[in-house]
Amino acid sequence: MFNQQDAPTEATIQYAAKLLKEGKIVALPTETVYGLGACARHPKAIQKIYAIKKRPASNPLIIHLSEFSAIEHYAIQIPKIAYKLAETFWPGPLTLVLNKHPSVLDLVTGGQNSVALRIPNHPIALKLIETLGEGIAAPSANLSGCISPSKAEHVQKTIGNKVDYILDGGPCSVGIESTIVSLLEEKPLILREGQILAEDIAHCLGVKSIASQVHYRKLYPVKNSHSATNEPITPGLSLKHYAPNKDLFLLESFEFATQVQHYIDLKKACSLLSFKKTKEKYAASLNAHLYIQHWIALDENPEIYAQSLYDVLHQLDEDKSECILVEAPPKISTWAAILDRLQRASYK
Ligand code: TXA
Ligand code: MG
Repeated sequence: MFNQQDAPTEATIQYAAKLLKEGKIVALPTETVYGLGACARHPKAIQKIYAIKKRPASNPLIIHLSEFSAIEHYAIQIPKIAYKLAETFWPGPLTLVLNKHPSVLDLVTGGQNSVALRIPNHPIALKLIETLGEGIAAPSANLSGCISPSKAEHVQKTIGNKVDYILDGGPCSVGIESTIVSLLEEKPLILREGQILAEDIAHCLGVKSIASQVHYRKLYPVKNSHSATNEPITPGLSLKHYAPNKDLFLLESFEFATQVQHYIDLKKACSLLSFKKTKEKYAASLNAHLYIQHWIALDENPEIYAQSLYDVLHQLDEDKSECILVEAPPKISTWAAILDRLQRASYK
């Protein structure tokens, strides 16, 4: 287990910045999830990121900055709405896709002419970027397609032996990845849902609504078959993503108890993730059963739910169950990001 005594100090942040300058890899906390950081101007370090994550070279990285003025060193032809969004939401869980500055390495952008930028809202990340004096390219610090890390120990257990240093900033306060908005066309387009909602962005820009490329699919918990429509244009958003090693089935709330009973009747050891009130309602009838390994109940507030989601999935992926049965959240905008992550985690 990762040693909590290693909480970052001024000196360890200086040390981590020195490592980054030398082309080494540092896992760093942000408010969303932990990032696998490399100096954005260091080609060899960027290559290491792709190798560690086993990530396709075509899937670009987000560059993390610590101050507004740095945008202009990484992007060109920046539209006015970018400044408006940045002023409102930075530092924070919003990533803007803009036209890339010619000096940005093609390795970072997967060969695209665009670049994804964000100022994270985490004092350790900000201090590290400031000390380095350059942007930090950082994808989530997990193996490609697997569950993202919301605690330093998640990084330690999965890729800890491949990184040069881990800065432990405690549990991430948001817990799921940033909202990504493309500003390449006249109208903004949401590429990935996050804590900042489409309506927050619309409100900030004084428009009625913002288009999103994220679509919901009907849930098929038992048959495991979907038709793959609406292929995402974000290279990293494959239909299967954020997934535990074992099967995860996303069950409609109204049939959660009957589906769980169905698995129990098949004598399958399962672990459950539901809302608190569902557990209260059904725990007496289902919980006593031998086949339920763990039953974790989360809050009905999406922001509190998101803080625990990846930690819970890491825990349930390691227990003795054969599969994880998850009660689907409501299909409303405040749950959009969580529903999206769970759908990708359950995709077969
Ligand atoms: O909250 C976050 O965004 C975290 C923390 C560490 O900042 N980072 C993160 O990075 O989630 P990653 O690499 O796991 O996901 C970034 C997503 C990928 O799906 C990638 O394809 C997309 O951003 N992306 C990056 N650059 C892009 C670009 N130029 N155009 C479109 N999508 C881009
Ligand atoms: Mg990721």
